Amino acid sequence: MSDSIESRLKEDRRFQPSEEFSKQARVASHAEYTSMYRKSLDEPEEFWREQTFDLVFRTPWKTFAEWDLPRAKFFVGATLNLTESCLDRHLSTDGRTKAAIVWEGEPGDVRTLTYWELHREVLRLAATLADLGVQAGDRVAIYMGMVPETAVAMLACARLGATHSVIFGGFSAEALRDRINDCGAKILLTQDGAWRRGNVVPLKKMADEALASTPTIEKAIVLRRIGPEKCPAPMKEGRDLWWDDALARRPSEAALALAKNPPAFDAEHPLFILYTSGSTGKPKGVMHTTAGYLAGAHVTTKYVFDIRPGDLYWCTADVGWVTGHSYFVYGPLSCGASVMMYEGAPNAPDWSRFWSIIEKHGVTILYTAPTAIRAFIRAGDDWPAKHDLSSLRLLGSVGEPINPEAWTWYHRVIGGGRCPIVDTWWQTETGSIMLTTLPGACYSKPGSTGLPSFGVDIAVVKDRGDECQPNEGGKLVIRRPWPSMARTLWADDERYLKTYWDVMPNVYFTGDGARRDEDGYFWVVGRIDDVLNVAGHRIGTAEIESALVSHPAVAEAAAVGKPDELKGQALVVFVTLKAGHDAKDLKAKLAEHIDKEIGKFARPDAIRFTDSLPKTRSGKIMRRLLKEVASGNAETKGDTSTLEDFSVLAKLRADDD
Ligand code: WTA
Repeated sequence: MSDSIESRLKEDRRFQPSEEFSKQARVASHAEYTSMYRKSLDEPEEFWREQTFDLVFRTPWKTFAEWDLPRAKFFVGATLNLTESCLDRHLSTDGRTKAAIVWEGEPGDVRTLTYWELHREVLRLAATLADLGVQAGDRVAIYMGMVPETAVAMLACARLGATHSVIFGGFSAEALRDRINDCGAKILLTQDGAWRRGNVVPLKKMADEALASTPTIEKAIVLRRIGPEKCPAPMKEGRDLWWDDALARRPSEAALALAKNPPAFDAEHPLFILYTSGSTGKPKGVMHTTAGYLAGAHVTTKYVFDIRPGDLYWCTADVGWVTGHSYFVYGPLSCGASVMMYEGAPNAPDWSRFWSIIEKHGVTILYTAPTAIRAFIRAGDDWPAKHDLSSLRLLGSVGEPINPEAWTWYHRVIGGGRCPIVDTWWQTETGSIMLTTLPGACYSKPGSTGLPSFGVDIAVVKDRGDECQPNEGGKLVIRRPWPSMARTLWADDERYLKTYWDVMPNVYFTGDGARRDEDGYFWVVGRIDDVLNVAGHRIGTAEIESALVSHPAVAEAAAVGKPDELKGQALVVFVTLKAGHDAKDLKAKLAEHIDKEIGKFARPDAIRFTDSLPKTRSGKIMRRLLKEVASGNAETKGDTSTLEDFSVLAKLRADDD
């Protein structure tokens, strides 16, 4: 069967889901998708009323949307406590026994939390936080690994109306400090350490460094994950509390009552701030609100992953990124799904780890990133071949364009030729999936990220805003506000307007380049701004550059991306040194400096020293030229007429290692 699918793929590069899959799917045909999509645009009020019937609102909404671009509000007049949709509502059905989270630690320990247990844990932590003075609107920072308590922490904040900001555990102390200070968090939730490829990531130690200069933090609550032998975590008197000790204290009656019967918040109440990279050095605190975000995450999870009773759904993204927020926590839990969670690295102890998890727990839906798929391809087919992957019925991809080779491998080797693949395009700012193919309804084309999600008016346009012809490349924009869109950048609204809404009048600019083919399928090329996508991580070139110039030896730096088979893009930096500094030994030092300023995941793949950088007459670094040098292109394409000093370019080429 898979052979015939492969040969069909060769013919027209399309993959049609099987009849059997379609028969059981929520949306069973292309025509049905199209009519739902039309309704979502033409009668949004009615569409969203039907699609959010299973979410819990305390006060129903009066109007679905009100906008005066670029400002938009959704579910106007509604109040809700979002955790009731994710937790409480399932307790009256099968939530007492149904697994919410099936967790496997890297060392192999396994824990399952039913919806009942997850609900209890959330209530206990919420009551504890309330006793520590956390109130609606306060910010709480979460710097944790992939343990169930991270989801508990997010939900406990949401229960109280506190705005959480999860900071990816791969960030350094410095990066953590900056994010805490930017959002003014009152409490930090962290853990002693996290397992990663057999090593301990000392989260508490880094948190201590960060907390030395975070005036707003009052308390840190620390989960014991590793234990004192392998991960000593000295506690600071008066500030630090062990998670279990804090929860063992009996909360006050008032706090308990608050956690049990939580207040309802306005639809536009801030739910979370998530920092992401942009085209200037400072990270952007993307802010999402409650009802619109929940509706977006809920409806897309339901339709794109086609969640059915009995599914065990696994999104492998770290909860520190938006995919973990929308498609590990809020979307699936609001659908009452059982989610798989894995703590560690995909190659710990070897490259069969993912496949053994799928076999052992019976995962039915796998949602991962192309960079991981390419690493699996490189590791070889023997690893998945050792495992029974027949429980899988649907595969997903996110984070960067998936090359057709990786698509085909994923489809054949992991999906056994039978599982549809949903390639999903979206962003931290969009909150939920904007482009994909509904698995039972639409055929997919390897490498294309498909068709618009419900309510999403998305287009490829030329610089002045006219829509491109089929297959003509242009800018990817969204022409109408949608419920799960970011509402602002925390404490930097001006930048929000400038980055997304001022590029073209009245449309949201994604920062991506794309084309739309004759069938209406979108093909996303990648970022066209100064943001890189390295192994699925969004990294701002300016962020890397400002980290580098903060090193005493560095005069100037430019970061660019270069195509990379495994990572999609590799990070190459060009550095000029201050007088009196020698490049000798500096490579390793600068790499460590990036580890310290941002985190190991942002380490450059290559560092090149140069006497000067190519600049325009007005002094702007010509990144485009550096990109070509980094990629080893002998001939310079494009215009170099504004290059100030041609000898710089010639010299850089000559230095090419
Ligand atoms: C890229 C991750 C092609 C894109 C959810 C976007 C993709 C950026 C895809 C957002 C995809 C994400 N195909 N490119 N399926 N998904 N991207 O904010 O460049 O970490 O703008 O959100 O990743 O990255 P972010």
